[in-house]
Amino acid sequence: MNDRFLKACRRQPVDCTPVWLMRQAGRYMSEYRRLREKHTILEIIKTPDLAVEVTMQPVNAFDLDAAIIFADILPPLEAMGLSLEFIRGEGPVIHNPLRIAADVAALRVPDPRESLSFTMEAIRLARRELDGRVPLIGFSGAPFTLASYAIEGGATRSFVLTKSLMYNQPETWHELMGKLATMVGEYLKAQAEAGAQALQLFDSWAGALSPADYRRYALPYSRRAIQTAQTSASSVEPSSGVPVIHFGTGTSGMLEVFKEAGGDVIGVDWRVDLADAWRRLGDDVAVQGNLDPVALFAPIPELKKRVSEVLAQADGRPGHIFNLGHGILPQTPVEHVAALVDMVHEMSRR
Ligand code: CP3
Repeated sequence: MNDRFLKACRRQPVDCTPVWLMRQAGRYMSEYRRLREKHTILEIIKTPDLAVEVTMQPVNAFDLDAAIIFADILPPLEAMGLSLEFIRGEGPVIHNPLRIAADVAALRVPDPRESLSFTMEAIRLARRELDGRVPLIGFSGAPFTLASYAIEGGATRSFVLTKSLMYNQPETWHELMGKLATMVGEYLKAQAEAGAQALQLFDSWAGALSPADYRRYALPYSRRAIQTAQTSASSVEPSSGVPVIHFGTGTSGMLEVFKEAGGDVIGVDWRVDLADAWRRLGDDVAVQGNLDPVALFAPIPELKKRVSEVLAQADGRPGHIFNLGHGILPQTPVEHVAALVDMVHEMSRR
């Protein structure tokens, strides 16, 4: 079994730097696009056999050190009572977004083992299919990122509705975040119980908050979700918890505060130098990142230079997991992905 990813999560020495890519299954692969001609994204997510097929596509095509279960951060909101649709060319839409206290009061907090059983089943099947080749990562959106979709009803640049609710109806905000923290914590824990060997919390939009607002309105809820997730026992080493990767973008102005919410690994984007981030985070956490996803559009020699820069900043410290600073883009040239994975291994060989 290739366990260099799990070893790096625990800051143990590895033969070379492990690499996986956020959103590694998706539209940049022709295998994925072919399946998407026949099924919507929600159909794929809710049909365990299809979700496993897509989970395996990048693992079969490239020499990746981890698989990530094919799902999305938004189905838990659907389970809580919101009406979710992915509209082609527009992205996700919530048809009944949360706007007033009564909307938040009506939100359910169902048991994810039942309401999201399709993902639990996909995890069990994917573990069998992977047969120990590489570890499987489970994931969830973080309470703040989920709240922003639930309130805005989709993507936003300004977060006006989200922050307005936060500032004008703080009690409603804290009630909502309390429900999301419970849902997210239980969802992560259920994934570990189903067989996920590491868990990633995506707080993709945390960087929209000032450090003070993050600390007051988001951190306590991410912390609680992470703590719940960390109580799940590892199937590999029952004595130790399943490692949690805490990822955010735009967090370079608040890395110290972001770390306080927890996580065995902190995921950072490319807007901060990895060495700088690591110095500020300290050496009691592992670090994941942080190549600009658009670097994959550069010619191979230029890509190579940028990969070597990231590796030089990690400087062979135990606990580096190579990744992009955010999800891979749909137009990414697939040959460059293959080249990236191989060059990370070759250039970091100890
Ligand atoms: O990493 C993986 O391979 C696992 C799959 C995965 C998906 N979404 C599948 C997906 C993961 C980890 C996610 C996480 C996710 N989803 C995040 C957090 C990570 C990030 O990028 O910040 C967010 C914010 C979402 C919400 C979401 N889902 C958006 C905004 C969109 C539409 C935008 C887009 O890229 O088209 C999705 C749809 C989605 N989720 C796709 C995939 C492969 C593309 C949809 C398609 O197939 O048409």
